Amino acid sequence: MTDWEKPSSADEKKLCLQEIFESGQRNHHISNTAYPIAHSQTWKPYRIGKQKYEQTISGAFSELPQIALYSHIPFCESRCYFCEYTVVGKSELHLTERYMQSLDQELALYSSILGPRELIGFDIGGGTPSFVDARLIDRHIQSVQNYFSLTEGFGISIETTPKIAASDPQKIREYQASGIRRISMGIQVTQPDLLKILGRDANGTEQLDRAVENIRDAQFDRLNIDLMYGFAKQSLASWEATLKYAIKLNPEYITLYRMRYKLTRISDQASQVDLDQVIVQSRMAKEMLTSAGYWSNPGKNTFSKIANDTGTSAYLTSRVIQGSPYLGIGLGAQSFTNCTISYNSGAIGKNLAPYFSALGCSELPIQDLYLLPRIQVMAKMVAVSFYFGEVNLSYFQAKFGIAFEEAYGDAVEFALKNGLMQYTDSKNGMEFRCNSNQHYGLHCSRCLSLTEKGAESFNGTIALFFAPSVQAYLIERDPTTAEDMHMNQRFAERIVSRSCQDGS
Ligand SMILES: C[S@@+](CC[C@H](N)C(=O)[O-])C[C@H]1O[C@@H](n2cnc3c(N)ncnc32)[C@H](O)[C@@H]1O
Ligand code: SF4
Repeated sequence: MTDWEKPSSADEKKLCLQEIFESGQRNHHISNTAYPIAHSQTWKPYRIGKQKYEQTISGAFSELPQIALYSHIPFCESRCYFCEYTVVGKSELHLTERYMQSLDQELALYSSILGPRELIGFDIGGGTPSFVDARLIDRHIQSVQNYFSLTEGFGISIETTPKIAASDPQKIREYQASGIRRISMGIQVTQPDLLKILGRDANGTEQLDRAVENIRDAQFDRLNIDLMYGFAKQSLASWEATLKYAIKLNPEYITLYRMRYKLTRISDQASQVDLDQVIVQSRMAKEMLTSAGYWSNPGKNTFSKIANDTGTSAYLTSRVIQGSPYLGIGLGAQSFTNCTISYNSGAIGKNLAPYFSALGCSELPIQDLYLLPRIQVMAKMVAVSFYFGEVNLSYFQAKFGIAFEEAYGDAVEFALKNGLMQYTDSKNGMEFRCNSNQHYGLHCSRCLSLTEKGAESFNGTIALFFAPSVQAYLIERDPTTAEDMHMNQRFAERIVSRSCQDGS
């Protein structure tokens, strides 16, 4: 068992649960699974100096026989105004070949530090990974297979856009040959006028039809479609039309993303979107998707048409259910062990220079590394679990050596008493067992899960399980005056933007 770091004094406080819940609801635009919200502030006491990066990483990964892997590919033809991810500008779009070589170099560096490891999931995300040549993706997959062994039976997952899937069927076919089995495509919304306001290609529903046709022709039978809601200028009727169209396309999975405004080009619009709007939109989506034969449990954003299949990639499923450690490589990528979290360079400036230069010196391209106390690692695991709207109690106990109720007695009592959560036998846990039967047993499916009421108070409920320093950040934060949403503000300096590691 890990020797835990000592918590900071801010993480030893006990705060009022009612106040925490209300602060999460009040700050509903940021109190979500993207824990810890503002790591440069809340995790400051746990920062590790650059000279100790390699030693700390090597120690942290040393006891982990299995990890999940995420490769970030930060290229996109142009940047959508709503996008929160690490994406490079137009001036760097010609650097795909060099970038993919650097990615392999980073992989080699980790492999020399970690030694042989088994992968329990592998996602290629972005940005738009399908922006680069299929042969570069294939070469990268081969490098991964040279360094790591892949657990039997899981498919690699990749992201694409409708434009690429519609215009380059050959590329999609080559993915199958490379071993990719799940493909995820962002549609977001179908209205050309809304897409235009959002700075995104609007090439009509014919393009969407062709994209899906090409994906099916390439024999993909695990297609996910991303849709987005919570935009300032998105009427209920337009959201309904988007949902109807997505259902008609008949993907196996549909993932609903509520717009997160922080550090996006349209962050100033957050104040125009209140909780009522997102709750009504989310309810409508659930009703329509359920009637169309998709399932999810309360609070879970990925809807699946296949029984006993969570709809998410093996990489994400293992992270959400099991709290599995993961290695993230590429610009701005994030890695998590049982005691550390690191963020790669490049997320803030969103340019490739620091990433290339670190690898040029054979150094790990890490920008921030934190050695965390148990209370923060637990909070991270629970926050990620909320992606499925529930915490798997057995995995929690296995990871931390204590029962969930022992760690969070008062918060659990508050959640149960207020009808926000309930004990369940999760469908998600069952599926996981079926996919990978040598690791997971039936006992793993006992969960503490969001109720419908809890799902509609998602932002307050999740905050009950944050560590005290992060709860205090929320309690002190006034969303009407807060400056941490915008790119050019002081707090934004070191708040790393996301890579789609946290769900797609
Ligand atoms: C990394 S993107 C990859 C998909 C691909 N590049 C595309 O746009 O079609 C994964 C998904 O994140 C979602 N997303 C992007 N920006 C977001 C934001 N600010 N808040 C919530 N979801 C967001 C979108 O639904 C997008 O499809
Ligand atoms: S939403 Fe997708 S295509 Fe648009 S900028 Fe973000 S990663 Fe690129």
